[in-house]
Amino acid sequence: MRQPPGKGLLAAVMPGLRLDQLLSRYGHCSRREAADWLRGGRVTDRDGTPLLNTAQRADPEEVRIDGQPVEFPDRLVVMLHKPAGCACSHNPAESPLIYDLLPPRWLRRNPGPVSVGRLDRETTGLLLITDDGALAHRLTSPKHEIEKTYEVTVSAPLPDGLAELLASGTLLLRGETKPCLPARLEITGPLTARLFLREGKYHQVRRMLASQGCPVTALHRSAIGELTLNGLPEGQWRDCRELLDRLH
Ligand code: URA
Repeated sequence: MRQPPGKGLLAAVMPGLRLDQLLSRYGHCSRREAADWLRGGRVTDRDGTPLLNTAQRADPEEVRIDGQPVEFPDRLVVMLHKPAGCACSHNPAESPLIYDLLPPRWLRRNPGPVSVGRLDRETTGLLLITDDGALAHRLTSPKHEIEKTYEVTVSAPLPDGLAELLASGTLLLRGETKPCLPARLEITGPLTARLFLREGKYHQVRRMLASQGCPVTALHRSAIGELTLNGLPEGQWRDCRELLDRLH
């Protein structure tokens, strides 16, 4: 099992988190406010016995806060069905944001949730969100070759030979020094295609198709590796820790 987050030698010797750290780590209150929470009996063990000392260490899985288990005590990993119109950003100036679609308490966690890569504001589909930086890195690094599937609609017919060009690994986008990695294209209709990528350059799908005279009018990411939305409605999220563990 994963070790709960903690710092330094003491954490290694004494497992768990100080209760004031725990309350702030999971976004309930600041460390300073923790004493009041404990005094008010809001934090208990599994059996309902109040925990009163901010310095006491506890396993997050064993603690109850206002009678409820800690949410995502090991790590936060959810898939979000991103709707069009919201930005993958923490900057309120870019509102509406994908983070507005998550429970506000998650945003107060420390570390807080981040998206695994980004989708453009107008792109819809599968986006992973996690507080596990190492996982985010593994999933975005081209070294790990996780394939992402995009459903693309364009405004001009897809030219002959496009699938071969994208598969060749020779397409060099303007402003880039390295060509795109080989990508698979399945033509699904006169103006639609499914594109499989193993990397994520800025606006990559839109730039690849625009470079061939086919501006993208709609873009939806339907899968990351084997992971699919599987009926998740737009704007909703789902815990996907288990699915992801099976994925890699
Ligand atoms: N490629 C794009 O151009 N946009 C996205 O949102 C994702 C991939």
